Amino acid sequence: MTQRIFNFSAGPAVLPVEVLEEARDNLLSLGNTGIGIMEHSHRGKAYMAVHEEAEALCRELAGIPDDYHVLFLQGGASLQFSMVPMNLLRPGATADYLVTGVWSQKAVAEAQRCGQVHVACSSQDRSFSYIPSQCQFSTHPAYVHFTSNNTIFGTQFAAEPETPAGVPLICDASSDIFSRPLPIQRYGLIYAGAQKNLGPSGVTLVIIRKDLVEAGSRDLGTMLQYRTFAEDHSLYNTPPTFGIYIMGLVFKWIKQQGGLAGVERLNREKAARLYQYLDQSQRFRATAEPGSRSLMNITFVTGDAALDEKFIATAKKAGLDGLKGHRSVGGMRASIYNAFPAAGVDALLNVMRDFEQQAS
Ligand SMILES: Cc1ncc(COP(=O)(O)O)c(C=O)c1O
Repeated sequence: MTQRIFNFSAGPAVLPVEVLEEARDNLLSLGNTGIGIMEHSHRGKAYMAVHEEAEALCRELAGIPDDYHVLFLQGGASLQFSMVPMNLLRPGATADYLVTGVWSQKAVAEAQRCGQVHVACSSQDRSFSYIPSQCQFSTHPAYVHFTSNNTIFGTQFAAEPETPAGVPLICDASSDIFSRPLPIQRYGLIYAGAQKNLGPSGVTLVIIRKDLVEAGSRDLGTMLQYRTFAEDHSLYNTPPTFGIYIMGLVFKWIKQQGGLAGVERLNREKAARLYQYLDQSQRFRATAEPGSRSLMNITFVTGDAALDEKFIATAKKAGLDGLKGHRSVGGMRASIYNAFPAAGVDALLNVMRDFEQQAS
């Protein structure tokens, strides 16, 4: 088999080898059914067991109580930018958005199609390099929306923002879902495209409090209402069966790592090693401000675009792929989600140290 290399891609991203191996075995026959996982009917007994196990493991890992639905949707996190306001922003009402990067800006743009948006805070003044500590909320927001981890700028909320009492908190957690324990009761709705921390692209996890499903507009197309999926256990139409299957395996793998607390400890260790090096380096510098730094996407530069290019090429030769920063910001980005191995962080540190020595 071709040797696997260290993949720092921001998403789709590295998956646990154990998950890929189990999936490989089940591609031709799921257990002893004689039918591969992708070929099973979504109404059949074999797939139903996969579907139910994925939901049960999700609930167990994050301690999701019965007053929340766990939904497996399609359309990526980007469709949630629209579904959230379509369902929850009634005419005449205002939704508050915390703007901490490009993905929050995109969420705002979609909400503005449905109703009024109030920007409660923004970190655009310093190129989204920090998480604002203060918000100014509108009088009675329908909900407050934030992006827990800013994949492009390498910043992350250390904890949930304080919001007005009784206002549903809604979170795009696409790039840090299940990377640390989740105080689910703080949230009205959390969504995440799977392709960073949970599985392959094509499935979106939505965890939504039941009263918000009930409150959702009934005037929307069937496929745009949360209740459609809530009422049918995400089986109204053909769900992304393979993605849900892989998600279930990833949940099982997270459980084996000690659950969300276990992966958080590993994530903190990996990120700390990189930031410690960056903070004393004479050649590289982290772009996110201390106190706002992401444990998932570590963004850094040399300060010289040509040298950045050279570093990325050097790293690639050493078997480290996907380190190029997002096209809108340049520089480097090491995406080190749950499944990214600690050995890959060591390998990156070695290449950075060598590069620093040679360039000085
Ligand atoms: C924080 C965040 N939100 C939303 C998206 C868009 O996700 P999707 O491609 O699943 O629509 C991304 C993609 O990278 C992201 O990082």
